Amino acid sequence: MKTLRSNMVWLNLPNMPTPVKVLFIGYLLVIGLGLAMAGLQIMLTHGMADGKPGLSVDDIVYSYYGDKNSSKMESMLNGPMKTMGTPESHLEIIKWVRNGSPQAEWDTHMKAVFSQNCTQCHGVIPGIPDFNKFDDVKSMTKVNEGATIQSLTRVSHIHLFGISFIFFIMGFIFSFSVGVPRWLKIVVLMFPFGFLIVDVASWWLTKWSPHFAWLTIIGGIGYSLASTFMWFVSMYEMLILSRNGKIYNNAWENDMLAWGIDLDEPREEG
Ligand code: HEC
Repeated sequence: MKTLRSNMVWLNLPNMPTPVKVLFIGYLLVIGLGLAMAGLQIMLTHGMADGKPGLSVDDIVYSYYGDKNSSKMESMLNGPMKTMGTPESHLEIIKWVRNGSPQAEWDTHMKAVFSQNCTQCHGVIPGIPDFNKFDDVKSMTKVNEGATIQSLTRVSHIHLFGISFIFFIMGFIFSFSVGVPRWLKIVVLMFPFGFLIVDVASWWLTKWSPHFAWLTIIGGIGYSLASTFMWFVSMYEMLILSRNGKIYNNAWENDMLAWGIDLDEPREEG
């Protein structure tokens, strides 16, 4: 009869052997930098999607759902081209564009509107679209359709594979922490995976309907918070808590004790 005894009392973050600590700390440092860069990148790309700095629900709608009411044509007419042509022509052009800029109407009417208001420049000045040509006009009337299915599938699988890897290793390190209540540890370990799924699902849902954009924010905040918590607790326990000379016992076995399994009790193995 073999006896299972509570052993490996060093198996916890503060008492972990130094080489393993170096490995864990090195990994956490690089991942911490990576997460900060990811945050910055989100701010710089998605954050500016609606033209204003800072990440908002609008940015997410703009990136995934698109902006079905606004084409290059419309935003130019509301911006730099505001003073060109008559206000009536602008209304007509916008109405036609929102109708899908059908060619039939171009032939009968819109070609003339552009000739009267725009072609004195657009048709003469090189390098800007020639509005005598339907194709040139048409290319300005495309609406922002948001993310394509191809880009969504690509980004989704990269995220799911890549990020779950990061969370797995980070969570593995954190699982050796001491003094964190058992329920909290389990919840924090589960959080990033759950919110990762919420995040990725929210992109697809937002592509379909703009009302789901807030889910993306919740997903992002959720796993940022969970990983920040794991990061700081792990670092604190390895770098600071380790200095008090206390032995914290096997962090994984402590969990079994919480189940009422007494490891000191002799038992039969196999
Ligand atoms: C006085 C000359 C002038 C007139 C008239 C004019 N435009 Fe322009 N337009 C420009 C110039 C120059 C540019 C390029 C510079 C810029 O993008 O601001 C431009 C750019 C544009 C663009 C963006 C082109 C691109 O490739 O991104 C659109 C769309 C546009 N104009 C629409 C119109 C429409 C519609 C009218 C008529 C109601 C009109 N413009 C009348 C001079 C003119």
